[in-house]
Amino acid sequence: MQVVHISFIGGSIGDWRITAAQTLRGASLPTAAFLTRKEGFEQPTAPPAWHLRGFTSNLRYTTASEAAELAGRQAPLGRSDSRLAALIPIRKSEAWWALGQDERRAIYEERSRHTSIGMEYLPRIARKLHHSRDLGEPFDFLTWFEFGEADAGAFDELVGRLRSTEEWQYVDREVDLRLARVV
Ligand code: HEM
Repeated sequence: MQVVHISFIGGSIGDWRITAAQTLRGASLPTAAFLTRKEGFEQPTAPPAWHLRGFTSNLRYTTASEAAELAGRQAPLGRSDSRLAALIPIRKSEAWWALGQDERRAIYEERSRHTSIGMEYLPRIARKLHHSRDLGEPFDFLTWFEFGEADAGAFDELVGRLRSTEEWQYVDREVDLRLARVV
């Protein structure tokens, strides 16, 4: 598997306009008008309001049959009719990280149904998970989603369902940025 490094940069320029910013838990991010998502960790040209870094990685809590179902259903990023996006950086608590792998899987899927719920929204919502914790970043995960205007309501429903699960009791920082493609 090829590891891809990704930067999310909030500032005065970018390919995505930030249309809404909501802090659900923990500290917020400084205000920014635009967002750039680009491969690599290089310093941004214009001074950013914030710069979050992540990388793609292997699956931790997914069985072989779930992985096959995801692969069969999921859509790629960059679809021309996906004019909307969301960046949701998330940090989980020390209590989560102190659990065993088996306990985390039980909370994540057997009790919270994260993958099962999410699967209902594929391929309407395209997604990419980036890990940050191992970089010493302020968030553990940078989650990215792209969708069309017709599916914005479905995306709100999806995040509402996930936030009411047992898994989300372990989320101690979450910021929800909504975006519209500039070009
Ligand atoms: C679009 C539908 C979705 C699907 C199909 C989906 C599926 C998945 C899968 C397969 C994983 C990786 C599990 C592993 O490592 O094996 C994952 C992780 C994750 N997802 Fe989702 N997800 C969806 C939506 C969301 C949304 C809307 C959010 C945020 C509000 C979210 C936040 C996360 C986080 C934070 C992780 C990392 C969990 C951890 O490793 O502790 N997901 N998701």
